[in-house]
This record gives sequence, structure tokens and C-alpha cells, in this order.
Amino acid sequence: MSDKITLSVIKADVGGYVGHVSVHEDLMARARQMLAQQGPDILVDWKVMAVGDDLILVLTHRNGEENASVHELAWDVFMSCTEVAKELKLYGAGQDLLADSFSGNVKGMGPGVAEMEFVERPAEPIVVFGADKTEPGAWNLPLYKMFADPFSTAGLVIDPKMHKGFTFEVHDLQDSKRVFFNCPEEIYDMLVFIGAPGRYCIKSVTSRTIDEQAASSSTQKLSKLAGRYVGKDDPVCIVRCQSGLPAVGEVLEPFANPHLVSGWMRGSHSGPLMPVSFADATPTRFDGPPRVIAAGFQLAHGKLVGPYDFFADKSYDKARAVAIDIAGYMRTMGPFEPHRLHLDEMEYTTLPEVMDKLKDRFEPI
Ligand code: F6R
Ligand code: MG
Ligand code: MG
Repeated sequence: MSDKITLSVIKADVGGYVGHVSVHEDLMARARQMLAQQGPDILVDWKVMAVGDDLILVLTHRNGEENASVHELAWDVFMSCTEVAKELKLYGAGQDLLADSFSGNVKGMGPGVAEMEFVERPAEPIVVFGADKTEPGAWNLPLYKMFADPFSTAGLVIDPKMHKGFTFEVHDLQDSKRVFFNCPEEIYDMLVFIGAPGRYCIKSVTSRTIDEQAASSSTQKLSKLAGRYVGKDDPVCIVRCQSGLPAVGEVLEPFANPHLVSGWMRGSHSGPLMPVSFADATPTRFDGPPRVIAAGFQLAHGKLVGPYDFFADKSYDKARAVAIDIAGYMRTMGPFEPHRLHLDEMEYTTLPEVMDKLKDRFEPI
């Protein structure tokens, strides 16, 4: 047991209602029922949330990151919710649970995990982001804007506690390696990598002035199937705010401009990431467009005071309208890139079969 608090955000798609659109209320109820039974040695507090077809467990505890008991609890909740999903014949019941049984850590077993252990400050404002129909690299652009772009985060210029910048931990999901960049002086080097979010993802961000980790995202090694890297896991991200870290409004600001992300329809299309309220996190048009929710919490001795539904606010109406326009425009391109993803990035493809069928018709030119 530690004096520090750990925030663990663990998510999985264990069955969609209807298709891949939402999480059925019975799954949420089962998750709540199981978490409510836990003693203080396992959990301090918990919330159950959803974005699209992904069930999100927001957990606080004093057991540290990658704790076997906490991860096993999350695994058991997802397994039990899968049983509910099977009874209701929901779509893709248990689809994100890749292993038959738990083996110490949910990482690599399907669920997405973002965790952070820290000493709770006198006031601890936190934003938990969840996105559906996209991939962990979707956080690269907003995290860059929050922690490295002075046109988005004013504090980088005018707050003495932020002026020295932040250190970014970037993971190469393909080669399972990581590298740290000190920003602002290394932003050009860093952008070479994080501008390719299908492979390089920002895992964490730490202040260079105050000894605090500011952000943590769920990134997972890409799985290589049939010679191709696949696996667009709908991601979650934790960001701590204020007092030497970006203000809540600076953390939310990047989502006012819907950027293009990969993962729409069949994990094989690009589209705008639309900021939505919890109620509107229901990707229906062409299974999209990709959506993001932002849940605000004040931590109070590990208790999660919240969630506050940030993107329900009117000031994101314009972003939604722009996202819907972009979505319509992208759709007009149908099966053409860049709406359809590059051949290497598609989750679904008929290329090998079609190529095989036509191989004798290809002649030299
Ligand atoms: C799921 C997703 C959806 C599915 C599509 C086809 O997260 O992005 O767009 O890929 O609905 O699903 P299947 O192949 O299960 O019929
Ligand atoms: Mg699904
Ligand atoms: Mg999903």
C-alpha cells in the first residue's frame, strides 16, 4: 500500500448494442454491481462509463500501476459483462478479451489501459478521455497541442511553471521501443515520429518544472497478423490539469478542431474525431464518425467527484458541425484513399484473394 493514489482507466468492447454502436445498460449495471462489492484494499472509488461500444472502468486505488489484483478485477468484470452480452446476443460478445484466462496483467490481453500513480495535490482536476472507432495515435495531435503548442496552450508562454516545457515519452508500437523528447527544443524531431500516429504514439507527458506526470495514454503493441500490423484499439487517455499543468480549458481546446483519425468503418477509414456528450457517444453514420468524450473529475482523497461531461457544452457545437461536414465530404470519396486507409493500415482487406484471382492477368508494361 502506498500514500500515492493510482488512477487506472481500463476499457474493452465486450459486446455492442446494436452492432458496434453502444454499450447496453445491462452491461453497465453488471459492472457497477461487481465494483460496488470491492473492499477498500482493492479500490478507493470507481465509475463505469461508455463511449460507443466500449465499456470504460475508471478506478482509483492505492496499489500502484500494473497491479495484479486491480487488473484481475477489471478482467473479471469484463468476463462477467461478456456473459450478459451473450445472454442478450449482443454483437461481438467478448470481442476484446483475447485470452481464455487472466495471467497477471490485462495489458496485451485485449483491454486498453491508461494508468498514473501520483500524490494527490490540494486540488486535483483530471480529464479522462475515451474515443471510439479510432486508435491510440489519435491522442498524438491533441497531446502535442496541449503540452507543446503555444497557440493552443497559453500557459506555455505566460505561466512561469510551464515555460520550460514538458517531456514526451513516445512509443514505437511496431518495434516495441521508446524514446523521450524534451520540448520545446526537440519538437521538430518529435514531430517526425508523432506525425505518423499509426506507429508512434505519445505514451506519457511529464512536467520539466514541477515533478509531476501530466498525461498517460493507452497504447498497445500492434499485433502482426498475416504479415500486416493490425489492431486499432479504441483508446483512453488521462490528463491532470491546472497549477503548473495545462488548464482544463487548455486540455480541451485541441478538440475544438476535429482532426482526421484512422479507424472509422471496419477500422479501415479516416474521418474527423467528433467531440460529443456522453449521450451522443453513439457512432451511427457509417459506424461513425469517430467520437471522443471528456469526463472531468476532482479527486478528493481518491474519491472521484464527477464525472463532468465537458463536451456537452455549447461551445463544441461548431466543432460537431464542422466534423459532420468533414465526414460528409470524406464519404464522397467512397473507396478511395485518403478516406479509405492505405493498404498497409486497413483492418479489412480482400486484396490477397483478389490479387490471387487476377495474378495471371497481370503482364509486364
Ligand atoms: C467496430 C467497427 C465497425 C465494424 C463493422 C463491421 O469497432 O469499427 O465499423 O468494423 O461494423 O463489423 P463486422 O465485420 O463485425 O460485421
Ligand atoms: Mg464492437
Ligand atoms: Mg469500439
